[in-house]
Amino acid sequence: MAKINSNYQKLQAGYLFPEIGRRVRAFAAENPTAKILRLGIGDVVLPLPEPIISALKTAADEMSQKESFKGYGPEQGYDFLLQAVAAHYQSQGANVEADEVFISDGSKCDTANIQEIFATDNIIAVTDPVYPVYVDTNVMAGRTGAAENLGRYGKLVYLPTTAENGFDPPLPEGKVDIVYLCSPNNPTGAVMPRSSLEKWVRYAQANEAVILFDAAYEAFIREPGQVHSIYEIEGARDVAIEFRSLSKTAGFTGIRCAYTVVPKSLKAHNDKGELVAVHGLWLRRQTTKFNGVSYPIQKAAEAVFSPEGKKAVEDNIAYYMENARIIREGLAAAGFTVYGGVNAPYIWLKVPGGLTSWDFFDKLLREANVVGTPGAGFGSCGEGYFRLSAFGFRENVEEAVRRIKEV
Ligand code: MLT
Repeated sequence: MAKINSNYQKLQAGYLFPEIGRRVRAFAAENPTAKILRLGIGDVVLPLPEPIISALKTAADEMSQKESFKGYGPEQGYDFLLQAVAAHYQSQGANVEADEVFISDGSKCDTANIQEIFATDNIIAVTDPVYPVYVDTNVMAGRTGAAENLGRYGKLVYLPTTAENGFDPPLPEGKVDIVYLCSPNNPTGAVMPRSSLEKWVRYAQANEAVILFDAAYEAFIREPGQVHSIYEIEGARDVAIEFRSLSKTAGFTGIRCAYTVVPKSLKAHNDKGELVAVHGLWLRRQTTKFNGVSYPIQKAAEAVFSPEGKKAVEDNIAYYMENARIIREGLAAAGFTVYGGVNAPYIWLKVPGGLTSWDFFDKLLREANVVGTPGAGFGSCGEGYFRLSAFGFRENVEEAVRRIKEV
């Protein structure tokens, strides 16, 4: 008889955002006239900027001509995009070569899949709260025990990342092999200071650990001097993989394009204790399981890095970050304790009145018709917190802040 992968049965609930969608749909069905404002899942609303759409259309036209039609592309990505990404890194003071870049259809997929190339007996550390994909994919792969108290999985090392430590992930007490870090952070909106990233790179060097660095929101950093790429830190090329996405940065949630950097100097041990370059394993994985992102989408992505594309993308980011300011300052003035929203499009607020985060979610939905994300969905340290996304039209964001204040 066929057997399932029983690790899936350890998963405690459905994926967070579909669960939120289910509750919102049920509410909308019962309250068809309610004007629901959605600041839950971080999904962009502004259309793709002109330089990007125009590159996409031109590439689509190329596909209609026999002289310029393209079939399968290179699995790692077209050279024009690899070069553009590497040049962008160089402009940010990070040394990344074009052949260390892997183009993909999203950072969710990449951060989910990367664990496949590492052994199942690695000790994994995650922050708490955490983007649920890092945890769930390790549960699926059998790297964890069952869910225990507080909903935490056995064998995973949790790093409480709380208001008390400034949302800066503390080093683990013992030795871990792989750690997921996300900066600017989803969900707390905090950005890791340079000193903290240096500490983490030293930890990884000393413990022969690998840092999986999710920088999907780096383009939202507003404060000068903050770190955009872990490769700005000396030694990071030997210990870190970095994930970046055009989803939020350039409005690609609907058309899908991201990139992951696996430096050639990053090595880890095989089961014989020999050092092996991780780059070749990821290349092997991608060439077996992935046929690449379509040519028109990669041309659109290339346009993101052109001078006109950069300007247009920056205008959209500035729009969302003004939303973030409106939410942060509006709620702070109303007496809420708020975090984030300065270098990230997420505002992390303390739930008032001792409610749980899911109670607050239901209350806001019912009484204000505003959708946010309950902090508990990101881990036990997220209980008592609530995430609001700055991805919305200005008038909806302003209206949501007004309604939340009334509640
Ligand atoms: C979020 O709201 O956390 C993100 O949109 C989820 C994602 O990027 O997968």
